[in-house]
Amino acid sequence: MKMKSSIGFLLLYVTTLLVIASAGNFYQDMEITWGDNRAKILENGQFLSLSLDKASGSGFRSKNEYLFGKIDMQLKLVPGNSAGTVTTYYLSSQGSTHDEIDFEFLGNLSGDPYILHTNVFTQGKGNREQQFYLWFDPTKDFHTYSILWNPQSIIFSVDGTPIREFKNLESKGVGYPKNQAMRIYSSLWNADDWATRGGLVKTDWAQAPFTASYRNFNAQACVWTSSGSSCSSNKSPTSSSAQSWLRESLDSNGIAKIHWVQKNYMIYNYCTDTKRFPQGFPSECLA
Ligand SMILES: *[C@@H]1O[C@H](CO)[C@@H](O)[C@H](O)[C@H]1NC(C)=O
Repeated sequence: MKMKSSIGFLLLYVTTLLVIASAGNFYQDMEITWGDNRAKILENGQFLSLSLDKASGSGFRSKNEYLFGKIDMQLKLVPGNSAGTVTTYYLSSQGSTHDEIDFEFLGNLSGDPYILHTNVFTQGKGNREQQFYLWFDPTKDFHTYSILWNPQSIIFSVDGTPIREFKNLESKGVGYPKNQAMRIYSSLWNADDWATRGGLVKTDWAQAPFTASYRNFNAQACVWTSSGSSCSSNKSPTSSSAQSWLRESLDSNGIAKIHWVQKNYMIYNYCTDTKRFPQGFPSECLA
């Protein structure tokens, strides 16, 4: 995936794909991929829950594939003692040179903080972890976790507050996801070999089943199908404003918010991990 960045390329997509703004219905938009009846769609498609017990976790994925989008989901994470559990929520294409944009929520003992883990893979290469604590208890209420993915940048947000940006730095030789359509995936599974305090705290199966809940899925996105389809900008009179996310970038307020989050809540940043990169940091860290 070494396609050159160009305005022409962007325009091609804008005019040939159909931007779909979908106020989500889980029945319509998602399919349960594993865990049998541990994954449930309820309330006419307005609500989804995943659960994990000793025998299995569970997961779902979007029926659609997307090439760029602004995707929001509200999640309420496993309450109480969630140590050892991981709830994932991410975009991914397929294959060994896949692209991926990750949120992962690492559970903890009651009262101890979850870790929000993020990563970006381009052409199969990840190793771009940033981790955060949250400024609220993510198990008490639903909160909105968003991924804005457009040709210029990827912005991770929590309740509308941007926490991380991965810019398109192809001009500096850094890969950027823009040629492979991605699905939305989510899962709840046991990762007690590494998730909580690096694997020190194990899953307490006496607390099972563990449950995470989802609602208010919303995708403003370009849907990609085998017939090549179509963000046709003239399908709807509101489409040019509906597509403003395709050009959205952080304003000064957004940049100030990212700095606030990074200063107060970031607990790991690969871009400052000198032990890990003794030969020098990846190019995107220096930009
Ligand atoms: C769990 O709590 C411990 C102790 O406060 C903390 O060091 C750790 O970062 C927390 N989160 C995870 C996922 O381990």
